Amino acid sequence: MSGESDGSLLDFEESDAPGDEWEEVDVAETEADRVAKQRDREFLTFRERIKDADQFKVEGAVFDDATLAALYTLVQHGHIDAFGGPISTGKEANVFLADGPDGEVAVKIYRINASDFKHMREYLEGDPRFSGLGSDKKAVVLAWTRKELANLRRAKAAGVTVPEPIAAERNVLVMNFLGTDGKRAKRLGEVRLENPETAYEVIQEYARRLYRAGLIHGDLSEYNVVVHDSELYVIDLGQAVTVHHPNSRDFLERDCRNVAKFFSRQGLDIDTAGEELLAYVTEPEPDPS
Ligand SMILES: Nc1ncnc2c1ncn2[C@@H]1O[C@H](COP(=O)(O)OP(=O)(O)OP(=O)(O)O)[C@@H](O)[C@H]1O
Ligand SMILES: [Mg+2]
Repeated sequence: MSGESDGSLLDFEESDAPGDEWEEVDVAETEADRVAKQRDREFLTFRERIKDADQFKVEGAVFDDATLAALYTLVQHGHIDAFGGPISTGKEANVFLADGPDGEVAVKIYRINASDFKHMREYLEGDPRFSGLGSDKKAVVLAWTRKELANLRRAKAAGVTVPEPIAAERNVLVMNFLGTDGKRAKRLGEVRLENPETAYEVIQEYARRLYRAGLIHGDLSEYNVVVHDSELYVIDLGQAVTVHHPNSRDFLERDCRNVAKFFSRQGLDIDTAGEELLAYVTEPEPDPS
């Protein structure tokens, strides 16, 4: 691919086998990088407005020009109409509420300079798809953001309920907002489950569907499942890896353990080592013949 990129870092539209979507990793300039460099009047006005916006100040979220340019680009492309307040400040990302053309959206902004990249590397190193990326922080975060969008799409196609993936630009991901009137829906760990058996069955099924689609969440727990409209949504798929990853089995075992432990604390009589769950998830698909 030449330096004149069309703004897309990874071309995942035409792939169908798990993992294919990363083959086009390109760390060339994104549209947002070009916008940030050109600094045209409209962008500068946008930048000043955002910098003054209370919610960004309160969060201490100091975003660099290229990140603001990514937000600007998402506005230009019609994915974001107006910014709302902060939803969450995590280790590597801030999540904000925003208005989109079809309702509220969640905007997840990865901070390129967040100090702890060990976590990200663990999921990227040894993965042949990312061998060209090196350790450049920007390249890693940009690939990560595209990966989260692609993982959301793959999970959705596999029949797992996830927030509707909308767009990714540079280090910013836009998806449907789960919540009501600007108030985020609660995580599984924050609600009192009336029927933990049913919830466990659903999560079991989600994990199996992900696995059959070649994906392992990698951080599946009560923190990354959200209860919205009486349905369970799986979120935070940035670190999800395909079954090709050299550590995918470890990640899967850990996911199963975390889920089993949580549901055991909810009173279910299940094996807390997660082995039953693991067996369920990896059980071969019945032969249709
Ligand atoms: N689409 C969404 N709708 C509503 N709330 C969301 C959405 N996505 C994320 N959130 C909220 O923001 C929190 C953080 O999001 P997420 O889990 O994706 O990132 P994170 O855990 O901060 O990631 P990191 O590991 O980078 O710190 C979630 O626990 C959830 O409460
Ligand atoms: Mg999370």
